[in-house]
Amino acid sequence: MRFSDEFIEQVRQANDIVSVISDYVSLKRRGSNFWACCPFHNEKTASFSVAADKGFFYCFGCHAAGDVFKFIMKRENLTFGEAVQRLAERAHIPLPEAERTEEEKKRDRMRQRLFSINEMACSFFHNCLVKTKYGEPGLAYFKQRGLTEQTIRDFRLGFAPDSWNKLSDAFMKKGISGKELVKLGLAKEKNGRYYDAFRNRVIFPIYDGRNRVVGFGGRVLGDSKPKYLNSPETPVFNKRQILFAFNKAHRSVYSEGRAVLVEGYMDVVSAHNRGVTNVVASLGTSFTAEQARLLQRQAKELILAYDMDNAGRQATLRAMEIVRTLGMNIRVLSLPDGKDPDEYINAHGEAAFKEALAGAPNVLDYMLYTSLRENDAATLEGKSAVTAAVMPVLVQTDSPIIVEAFMKKMAERLQIDENAVRSEYNAYVRAHPEAGGRQVVISRAVSRQNAAARGVNSMAVAEENILRYLLEHPGFYGSVKEKIVPTYFTDLKRRGVYEKIDRQHTANGTYSLQSVQEELTAEESEELARIMVLEDVPIDEHVLFDYVLRFQLASVQAEYRVHSALAAEYSVHDDGRLKEELAICKELNEKIKQLILSAKKGAHTNGN
Ligand code: UTP
Ligand code: MN
Repeated sequence: MRFSDEFIEQVRQANDIVSVISDYVSLKRRGSNFWACCPFHNEKTASFSVAADKGFFYCFGCHAAGDVFKFIMKRENLTFGEAVQRLAERAHIPLPEAERTEEEKKRDRMRQRLFSINEMACSFFHNCLVKTKYGEPGLAYFKQRGLTEQTIRDFRLGFAPDSWNKLSDAFMKKGISGKELVKLGLAKEKNGRYYDAFRNRVIFPIYDGRNRVVGFGGRVLGDSKPKYLNSPETPVFNKRQILFAFNKAHRSVYSEGRAVLVEGYMDVVSAHNRGVTNVVASLGTSFTAEQARLLQRQAKELILAYDMDNAGRQATLRAMEIVRTLGMNIRVLSLPDGKDPDEYINAHGEAAFKEALAGAPNVLDYMLYTSLRENDAATLEGKSAVTAAVMPVLVQTDSPIIVEAFMKKMAERLQIDENAVRSEYNAYVRAHPEAGGRQVVISRAVSRQNAAARGVNSMAVAEENILRYLLEHPGFYGSVKEKIVPTYFTDLKRRGVYEKIDRQHTANGTYSLQSVQEELTAEESEELARIMVLEDVPIDEHVLFDYVLRFQLASVQAEYRVHSALAAEYSVHDDGRLKEELAICKELNEKIKQLILSAKKGAHTNGN
């Protein structure tokens, strides 16, 4: 759709750039501009600035720049026309009449009306909950489930009174027809009389991504059935395209680069209630490609936190299939003793929940470990059951490097020859052409070398973890670059990987797993694959600094050994170099003391 210049200017005037950008990041005023961490690149200090008066934003880090339309285009992946339309809607400016057909106009008016009736219903339920005596059982219920008043207000949770007609009567008095109420699933009709569809239930309003109420979920207070009633599909409620709480979660999904998908409304609300705000749910239906796309625009990683019964596992597989083509990384959260996220977070607190999220294994590890738990890998039947459980996921993995490394891991775990895993894999690929897997090579050279190559000394572990962290967090490299010298690496392959990271970072200011992979030799590539699939020790930057420190220490100690050996040698027949060596030793010794001191001060000082 093309818009006139006047219309575009009108939309621009109506959308203050500071308020629009504030929908996405928290801006703080400093001087005449507003500042935030840039939403377009990964950073820790705010270099993204907004000049309110000029109507422009600029990032000193990544040089993203533009006006309010550019911001929306970039941030929401929209064309210019779509961005104008989006901002017009945001400011409630009707699109130019001439641009639309009669049909479209009628449809739009109808949708507007449905949105506003839903909005009224949302207020009705919410007021009933927080302001009336009818709502008392609902309020008691939410409190008993641990929700704060703030959360109840934020989600505008509600209560449908224990009555046949409170909502219908009130709304029909305001000129809303029974037909409209039925259309939205707020009322039902019997013999020409209308009665409330939601009765004596707590209400979870469902919003679309733009904060419009599109439907409701209503839960019984006790154990009777059905547990939930949900609004039907309507012209404003397409369940395939809506994620519960995405309107609230999108900001942190984006800033954390990660979304958590749970099953229930209560799981979402409880997580948000406790400050874990990147959590969403599908609407009692299975996760769809449309929903996946919503998330994928905002994040690279999805953590599935479904119930881990058989059905949940199937759902996990399906979800994986859906996000696969979108290139999202999937991890799977399985909580101890079959608790769902709501129970877990209320029993153990948000820190424990966050920890569980941080430690959630990737989907391959998850499948392997759960089936190892359920089968006896010592028996042939067990081995084949585990293989059968893992293959469907493995063939969906696009990166050959991960597939290769994972087959090694499977062979190790199952104590079978790696070539056996490889032929199983190939057999599966042949039997399931729809999965789109590629055949792998079976070779005699593939052996148990990998087990032997697993780093055993602490240097190897430090090297592995440093590389893994740096490859997973390219944005972080700048802050450790100076501290790591390639020759610190005791292993030439790992040094090789590191050198590529360093070179690319120096040349381009960044790198990615992909770009580094492209430059590796075959051996380095294999080493990298091995490292990337090592049992996930969750690492954060503090731990990383600790590794870097140990790393520096080991390297200085090695240097010290060389020079003290030289000094010992020269002390026998001193040719004048002894003094020099002793001076070096002293200096190195001093360095070692410093390093040990900062290591002791611990990670909280970042080791600096
Ligand atoms: P759960 O039964 O796990 O619900 O169903 P929950 O949200 O955790 O509720 P609590 O903790 O028992 O209060 C998961 C989701 O499946 C849908 C709802 O979306 C629910 O949140 N569902 C469940 C229905 O639509 N209808 C039902 O009868 C049950
Ligand atoms: Mn639950």
